[in-house]
Amino acid sequence: MKEQLARIRSEALAAFEQAQSAAELDSLRVQYLGKKGELTAVLKMMGKLSAEERPAMGQLANEVRSALEAAIEAAAGKLEAQALEQRLKDEALDVTIPGRKVKLGHKHPMYLALDELKDIFIGMGFTVLDGPEVELAEYNFDKLNAEEGHPSRDWSDTFYFDAGSRVMLRSQTSPMQVRAMETMELPIRIIAPGRVYRKDEVDATHSPMFHQVEGMVIDKNVTMADLKGTLNTVVEQLYGKGTKTRFRPHHFPFTEPSCEMDVQCHKCGGVGCPTCKGEGWIEMLGAGMIHPKVLKMAGIDPEVYSGWAFGIGLERTAMRRFKIADLRLIFENDVRFLEQF
Ligand code: DAH
Repeated sequence: MKEQLARIRSEALAAFEQAQSAAELDSLRVQYLGKKGELTAVLKMMGKLSAEERPAMGQLANEVRSALEAAIEAAAGKLEAQALEQRLKDEALDVTIPGRKVKLGHKHPMYLALDELKDIFIGMGFTVLDGPEVELAEYNFDKLNAEEGHPSRDWSDTFYFDAGSRVMLRSQTSPMQVRAMETMELPIRIIAPGRVYRKDEVDATHSPMFHQVEGMVIDKNVTMADLKGTLNTVVEQLYGKGTKTRFRPHHFPFTEPSCEMDVQCHKCGGVGCPTCKGEGWIEMLGAGMIHPKVLKMAGIDPEVYSGWAFGIGLERTAMRRFKIADLRLIFENDVRFLEQF
């Protein structure tokens, strides 16, 4: 029995020492110290010993058990330390590696131009309105005095959704004039920027989708002089003090009288150059005094109130502002182009 205990001791200690994992160590523990373990089997035989032999053998057996238990604990501690070491190695983080830069975008030149315009108008007490791009022909045309048969209502110019030509993509921001008249308290001072749609082929100056900024003022005693004064102020703020404008008679169904406003060419100062096609002037917007019929249709008494309105082409304003030669650049969204602003 003495030899048996010595063998168990040396075998077990060697095995514990070599265990590679906590699981392996545990199964070794069962193998030696478990209920059916090798050491347990020897202890069970104690009863068969004589009374003289038993104390010394009992003491030895207890020593072996303590040695095994201590060895298991030591081996477990060693494995744990190894595991921790490994984890620290695996999860090591090199804090000296430079971080990845977050690439921040910026505003599209169209929105830069629009923000400038908005700031100017907000500074003059205007409210900024947003409105539907899917619009009723009633608002886009009828209530703006462009009756059935008006050329702008043609299927070849307008994106309709239905055979009855009732629902459409708005072809101008002018329907926002009517929406404002119908819902706002007088006096009214609004601008309404947004997308508009027309069946145009894409080229250097055309796109089936583009942007306008509508503007409208309605109050008592509003005159053409107010329109000119306001627009001149806007142009000077946008393009610099002393920038000249020119108003040419024109026709729109919803204004009377109507005009177009040109701005003196920023490139040549009015002498004539390729940018202004030799004219010295560049067209910027359509405008006019709101037609009494339009006011009346919206429930406003044209004997008491008068107003003016205008519609700016935003792409053109942005192209002039940032010296962009081709409209397509604005919509292609090539980062090499956009990064320049
Ligand atoms: N809606 C016109 C267009 O798309 C522009 C315009 C002209 C707007 C005169 C107006 C205006 O408000 O008074 O060509």
